[in-house]
Amino acid sequence: MEISQLKKKFVEIYGGDESDVRVFSAAGRVNLIGEHIDYCGGKVFPAALNLRTAIVARKNGSDKIRLTATTVDDKVTLDINTLDAYKDLKWGDYQAGVAYVMQQKGYKIVGCDLLYDTTVPFGSGLSSSASIEVATAMLFSTFSKEEGVKDVDLVQLAVLSQLSENTYNGVNCGIMDQFASSLGKKDMAILLDCKTLDYKYTPLKLGEYSMVIANCNKKRSLQDSKYNERRGEVEEALAILQTALPSVTCLAEITPEQFDEHCHLLEGKGRILDRAKHVVYECDRVLKSVKALEEGKIVEFGELLNQSHYSLRDLYEVTGKELDALTKYSRAFDGCIGSRMTGAGFGGCTISLVKSDKVDEFIKFVNENYAKEIGYEASFYKTSVENGAQEL
Ligand code: GLA
Repeated sequence: MEISQLKKKFVEIYGGDESDVRVFSAAGRVNLIGEHIDYCGGKVFPAALNLRTAIVARKNGSDKIRLTATTVDDKVTLDINTLDAYKDLKWGDYQAGVAYVMQQKGYKIVGCDLLYDTTVPFGSGLSSSASIEVATAMLFSTFSKEEGVKDVDLVQLAVLSQLSENTYNGVNCGIMDQFASSLGKKDMAILLDCKTLDYKYTPLKLGEYSMVIANCNKKRSLQDSKYNERRGEVEEALAILQTALPSVTCLAEITPEQFDEHCHLLEGKGRILDRAKHVVYECDRVLKSVKALEEGKIVEFGELLNQSHYSLRDLYEVTGKELDALTKYSRAFDGCIGSRMTGAGFGGCTISLVKSDKVDEFIKFVNENYAKEIGYEASFYKTSVENGAQEL
């Protein structure tokens, strides 16, 4: 919904007029490369999208947070004195989590009326939840600051949002999504070191190619996916490799050469050798990708995207037949130089680099073939890379 329409809707729901309503926004994200790397302490390469969560907000002077959204029928009221009581909400648990975690950290959470509008498709792997968390964190931190309690920067907004998803919503996610949602910049990708939170922006110049995002439309949620299981596997691999490499503090620090020398230690322990191998080599691909992009070598970048997908499919096993089919038909199109799943996997979206003047043809070709094999269609989004969190 347009912001002007949203404000009207807000007034219809909560009354009053538009003069004292505020609008906060945070972005969904796409990850270009560096998948399942953030929680291993490595570098990732996401960008913020025009798909976003906007919140129309007004303080209400009470100790209640009233929530509703354009995309759900539910209306939820949270009592700011019992914010830990809303973990089981079907909708509103992300908002409650952020408010609770910030309150615990000393922010002053005030009563307010809120209308959410999320254009990031849910369960798509484009970080709808991070966009909700970060926009919520920005709103509450702004209100807290106005009460004279605590100031916050965009990095802290991301950290608080991640903490809330980890501790309140039970998803052991890394920092990538919230960071991109908060710190994204127009037409830039972010090279983020997930161990130190150092970051730099790289212009997303793709020459004659465009980035096409496609949703395989298989729904999934991280709570019931194998996400937490993978985290356990790489932690186990790290502990074993540390017996040979004691100075290493995270998997991402291990070079491909060191890994090849010591990986025999992981043999015979389920699939943890393959899981760790994905991490080590994916980290290497991230650095190569940034270099390729900086040097304008887009075809090389595209090939690295393909390699990333194969590794996620064969070693990390987080793709599934839908994402594999979607990327397979993407690659089969003459004019596409690379395609991979993006986000956690198990469903959700892919990114492909496609000759800009062939995008429509690409979409038709891929969708027809995908629907023939899978039995339903994919969705394709018109996206652009935009700023992250802001008060509009
Ligand atoms: C999800 C998580 C992120 C990251 C990706 C995989 O999006 O929220 O922290 O781990 O999966 O790269």
